[in-house]
Amino acid sequence: MTSVISITGLNKIYTDGFQALDDIHLDIEEGEIFALLGPNGAGKTTLISIVCGIVNASSGEVKVRGHDIRADFRLARQQIGLVPQELSLSIFESVMATVNFSRGLYGKPRDDAWIEKILRDLTLWEKRDQRIMALSGGMKRRVLIAKALAHQPRVLFLDEPTAGVDVELRQEMWELVRGLREDGVTIILTTHYIDEAEEMADRIGVINKGKIILVDEKQALMKKLGKKQLHLVLADKLSQLPEKLQQFKLESLDDGQKLIYTFDTQKEHNEIPLLLKTLGELGVEIHDLQTEQSSLEDIFVELVGNKA
Ligand SMILES: Nc1ncnc2c1ncn2[C@@H]1O[C@H](COP(=O)(O)OP(=O)(O)OP(=O)(O)O)[C@@H](O)[C@H]1O
Ligand SMILES: [Mg+2]
Repeated sequence: MTSVISITGLNKIYTDGFQALDDIHLDIEEGEIFALLGPNGAGKTTLISIVCGIVNASSGEVKVRGHDIRADFRLARQQIGLVPQELSLSIFESVMATVNFSRGLYGKPRDDAWIEKILRDLTLWEKRDQRIMALSGGMKRRVLIAKALAHQPRVLFLDEPTAGVDVELRQEMWELVRGLREDGVTIILTTHYIDEAEEMADRIGVINKGKIILVDEKQALMKKLGKKQLHLVLADKLSQLPEKLQQFKLESLDDGQKLIYTFDTQKEHNEIPLLLKTLGELGVEIHDLQTEQSSLEDIFVELVGNKA
């Protein structure tokens, strides 16, 4: 895989002395959906803003498809579309004019077919002659996406794309993002919603207090850091845990009706067969049995909590 975005040793200290980014190294691969996950104030918007040339880095290097964002700003910026976190639109303009204007900013010739395609994909076509101020919040957000896509960027940044968006629009956004990826667009999104990262991303980066604390494939991350639990519902309550079961670090719930055995997914040799065998030997009858895996949310809370 080739990197579309390559960030090395990036630091940002704001003029008031606050260090928002601390030695960031990150490579984004062509065609992937990368989710940058982190709490409020972690530095997500700062990072995106630097890559998009809105904020200057204090030190470090960023390349977009090989173009340095300082030395080669225009070429680097042309590759990128940005959907900002804050709604920023001129309310008196029509949808069509706004989107066309965005394309023009990049010196690209008019392309009515492309603009029509994105407006249709975003279900804005019927609203193309409306002024922005006559649109609902969700529609305005779609206009921001249309603006970001107007110059046909190869990389799209979405800064909290679904904050304050209803469930239906959220699903639509996800569909749209998947469609873009199929067209070969690389997508970097920031989110607070862990289920969004879980649903959408190929890889996840966790950022906290200006530091990237982890980057991994979503599947690997969940496997590596996830814990699994085996829930055993017993036919009869176990008022006391027999001595033979004490070695297993079991948790007893519902007055002994339920036993929970927690194990690491990383360890291949967990003790489940032995546990079940021991239960059998003790004559403990199992009524029901299921396993549960920790969600990305559990993992995230644990990570950020530990490193805070
Ligand atoms: N212009 C600025 N001057 C000084 N500090 C700033 C400035 N912009 C941002 N910061 C600080 O940098 C830190 C990172 O802010 P940033 O907006 O990048 O966070 P974020 O991860 O995007 O948060 P959120 O999830 O709330 O959008 C915060 O502590 C913020 O207060
Ligand atoms: Mg932000």
